[in-house]
Amino acid sequence: MFDFSPEPGASTEQVWHDLVEAARGLTHGESDGVANMANVAAAIWQFLPRLNWAGFYRTVGDELVLGPFIGKPACIRIPFGKGVCGTAAASGDVQLVPDVHAFPGHIACDSASRSELVAPVWRDGKVIAVIDLDSPDAARFDEADARGIALLAQAIAQAI
Ligand code: SME
Repeated sequence: MFDFSPEPGASTEQVWHDLVEAARGLTHGESDGVANMANVAAAIWQFLPRLNWAGFYRTVGDELVLGPFIGKPACIRIPFGKGVCGTAAASGDVQLVPDVHAFPGHIACDSASRSELVAPVWRDGKVIAVIDLDSPDAARFDEADARGIALLAQAIAQAI
């Protein structure tokens, strides 16, 4: 129904800008958070090359629980403070991990993952979810991606 293709040769900033706009459009006027997370995960998958996993973990009590995603089946529950996702949730900061094997406590859900980018989604002063991107390529993500995923998290915070 929706087919998003990044402009050939577009900068990382432009790709993230277009992805954020797509996510706003997809979630606009829809109150179902699961549906919105599913469509945003699908949009991420369409816009960003070289990913092997893209999706959400949601804050439930004092842990993260798997949400909608694209990729191989993944770990279901991650305590706050554990792994890259739990660190993003506990610290409230984007985690840019060029080499997952060098990240203490990294949780290997898919052995193909080499680098990872995770953003907390803040709403009403709390981290309500994280967006998790995994790549089979080392150092797939850079600071522009980190800024982009933070903008995406902000853009969808009211919709998930
Ligand atoms: N690697 C993550 C776990 C989630 S999977 O990558 C989908 C982590 O260390 O938190």
